[in-house]
Amino acid sequence: MRTIAIFDSGVGGLTVMRAIKDTLPHCNLVYLGDTARVPYGTKSKETILRYSLQVSQFLYAQGVDLLVIACNTATAYGLHEVRARYPIPVIGVIEPGIDATLQTTTGGKIGVIGTSATIASGLYKRGIQERLPAAHVTEIATPLLVPLVEENWTGTEVTRLTLERYLSGFPVIDTLVLGCTHYPLLKNDIAAVLPNVALVDSALATARVVAGLAGQCSEQQPRSTFYMTDTSSRFREIATLFFGEEIASIEHIDL
Ligand code: DGL
Repeated sequence: MRTIAIFDSGVGGLTVMRAIKDTLPHCNLVYLGDTARVPYGTKSKETILRYSLQVSQFLYAQGVDLLVIACNTATAYGLHEVRARYPIPVIGVIEPGIDATLQTTTGGKIGVIGTSATIASGLYKRGIQERLPAAHVTEIATPLLVPLVEENWTGTEVTRLTLERYLSGFPVIDTLVLGCTHYPLLKNDIAAVLPNVALVDSALATARVVAGLAGQCSEQQPRSTFYMTDTSSRFREIATLFFGEEIASIEHIDL
């Protein structure tokens, strides 16, 4: 294994790339953020699938060995088709997120937040209840959270009020699944509103699955390459925020 590709509708998947880079420091990584067309979470399943196939085709043509769909929305509507199309392992974020949820919950009272499209797919609820039939799973779409994170409004009054409004829709829960790659940046804000609830971030769980499949890479000077379909300065700034490390160069591509 040499090169792992990671794709997201925008910059949120960089939280997953961060976890993969920390877990597998000797692999080459290629990231593609479809920033020209983000958000996917408000679009139809046909559009999300078409975009996911276009992005995957671009990455596969780069000769990558493993593809991570680091976007919950694209995983919900594109994972099976992308897997069927390419002869390399393709990993989404929902299954690892479900695994992590089942390891975390103490009483089976589980909340899930995600984009409108992810919640409409019902995949988290079905996946959790298939493996833990006694679980009580409540899903709430929280579409305003992606723009709040992209505006870098974490830790603000507006975000607190928005979270209070959304999260008050849950019954008593012990675990909340952050079913969107943007939400790990809101962990502190969410913990302030739901102080005794365990938060599940699928980035780490996904990185563990990738490590299990990728084995050890042995690149002496591993490269991280970043592609985006829109490279406006705003995306450059928040990309650094999500990745937690300065990103020296982002290459613009058209799909
Ligand atoms: N990356 C998306 C997800 O994890 C959130 C942003 C979007 O709506 O495209 O669902």
